[in-house]
Amino acid sequence: MIQSGTDLQAAKNLLEQGEVVGIPTETVYGLAGNALNPDAVLRIFKVKNRPAFDPLIVHTDSLAKVSQFVEAIPAPAKKLAETFWPGPLTLLLPKQAIIPDLVTSGLDTVAVRIPNHPLTLDLLRSLDFPLAAPSANPFGYISPTTAQHVADQLGDQIPYVLDGGACQIGLESTIIGFDEDHDPIVYRLGGMALESIEAVVGPLTVRSHSTSNPKAPGMLSSHYAPRKPLVLMPSHYAAVDPEMSEVGALAFQRPIENIPPDRQLILSPAGDLTEAAKNLFAYLRQLDQLDIDIIYAEKLPDEGLGRAINDRLRRAAVR
Ligand code: TXA
Ligand code: MG
Repeated sequence: MIQSGTDLQAAKNLLEQGEVVGIPTETVYGLAGNALNPDAVLRIFKVKNRPAFDPLIVHTDSLAKVSQFVEAIPAPAKKLAETFWPGPLTLLLPKQAIIPDLVTSGLDTVAVRIPNHPLTLDLLRSLDFPLAAPSANPFGYISPTTAQHVADQLGDQIPYVLDGGACQIGLESTIIGFDEDHDPIVYRLGGMALESIEAVVGPLTVRSHSTSNPKAPGMLSSHYAPRKPLVLMPSHYAAVDPEMSEVGALAFQRPIENIPPDRQLILSPAGDLTEAAKNLFAYLRQLDQLDIDIIYAEKLPDEGLGRAINDRLRRAAVR
């Protein structure tokens, strides 16, 4: 059975040997390997069953280290990094040759982030290489927000999961790139609300909706999906057929009428979008385990983290 715990030295040793290890972040758990070692990176793709065209995020612990593997940091990127790192924000920056093409799927930009988790920051500080890490779920399934989620799904394939408790944010990082004029473009909605980012760099262009040949395949139309079919309901009391006893629900604040209470999970009774984000993936997993045939999910307000939650629910609804 897989080992999990808080042994930083064990995680460090394994990573130095080219192994892959589960690591906690504030967003979701990552499946980490030495970003400068193509064999370790290949192992990540294999364990996740991830297509080679879907590039990885590189994690490190300081802007000084970032400068060692990117060509340049445009002024707006620097401003965002200084304001929000460590935090749930990933920046697409021109890569140096030291980053293997495998990491970026041949793109000339590399996705970079400094995660905000004390254990993982300690680990990154102790290593002399950055960590490539996608979310630690099988490709296409719901991202893990506890060490147990990682062990449940990848336990027989990886030697260790560093257990940092439940993820505080619960949604993958927001991904921002820059056009030729260095204007920021949002490629994936995520754990950093657009409102917060716009307060620093002004109005943002959002391009997280394309489905074919995606620049960020986290944007693939079907993704983050439970095994059971999921229906996204436009509003709270949309009609649910009372005959459908096999229906379960993911509600925002209050239970949905006509569905038995033991088949429902409430994301945030207080109506708090931050709390809803933190519960989202764990609750989807729980509903996926219930003896139901279909999951009804209530659409949340399109503001703050509600936007990213709705984005994940829309993708979970695509078959
Ligand atoms: O919060 C997160 O971002 C988590 C934690 C572990 O840091 N990681 C994560 O990784 O969500 P992953 O691999 O599941 O999603 C990374 C996304 C993918 O959709 C990928 O296509 C995109 O980042 N990406 C990576 N490099 C890119 C690049 N150079 N250009 C465009 N998109 C890129
Ligand atoms: Mg992922």
